[in-house]
Amino acid sequence: MEDQASETCKALVERLRRASSVCALTGAGVSKESGVPTFREADGLWNRFRPEELANVEAFIRNPTLVWEWYSWRRELMSRVQPNAGHYALAELSSLLKSFTLITQNVDNLHRQAGSKDVIELHGNIQRNKCQECKTVYLPDDSRTRFEFRKGQLPHCPECNTGLLRPDVVWFGEMLPEDAITQSWEAAERCDLFLSIGTSAVVYPAAALPQVAQASGAFLVEINPQVTELSGKADLSFREPSGEILPTLVNLLKEQA
Ligand code: OAD
Repeated sequence: MEDQASETCKALVERLRRASSVCALTGAGVSKESGVPTFREADGLWNRFRPEELANVEAFIRNPTLVWEWYSWRRELMSRVQPNAGHYALAELSSLLKSFTLITQNVDNLHRQAGSKDVIELHGNIQRNKCQECKTVYLPDDSRTRFEFRKGQLPHCPECNTGLLRPDVVWFGEMLPEDAITQSWEAAERCDLFLSIGTSAVVYPAAALPQVAQASGAFLVEINPQVTELSGKADLSFREPSGEILPTLVNLLKEQA
């Protein structure tokens, strides 16, 4: 790392060490180095697939087989990947800081796999199932809902016996889980340092969180190789992959501890 970048890292680490509360919001970019595709980059999912056919309730009611086909493919892909150095660094941060809240827009479960506890999942978790009718949520290891998707065999809810099961993720036009958004908002208002990592910061309400934090007095840091909607507002930006910069910050934090 060049001298100037290294000095910037050290200054940020000093801020992290002094902060009484730190908040991080992650997006698809944090999992890219694990092999999970992002959404809006040139090779991203929304440049190859149409969200209106796959990620909303009307699409599911119209053609549940197509929607399940797509989510089964994504589940399969995500079941084969591992957390990367960025996920592990974020998991370590909670033991190195006075108070740390991790909020993610990702549904891939990789933060939990890396050891992060109490992750706030704003957009759900692709491994869980939910009944479209009675809204019962089923954990991934619930044997009653374990199934392998095959055309013509759609899974039904074992509780109400009528509703179709769907992945427990937030689709366009749906509300975010109330607890998750309330906790995130409070953490953003409370923190003195906010890290926006690997997100294009265009999908609301998640995209409002860095701005809520900054308006409440937090120092705003962005980690993203590309310029985003948020870049102009950030107090500090790192244009490096999160899998490189986060472990550097964590190692410096440990040295200075
Ligand atoms: P996007 O695809 O919109 O943005 C991913 C961001 O990650 C881009 O700004 C990239 O520059 C950045 N990036 C790429 N590689 C990176 C790396 N190695 N390290 C750090 N950053 C990197 O994904 P999100 O912002 O997460 O919602 O998208 C938000 C929501 O839109 C998703 O949760 C999903 C989607 O529709 C739902 O499914 C409800």
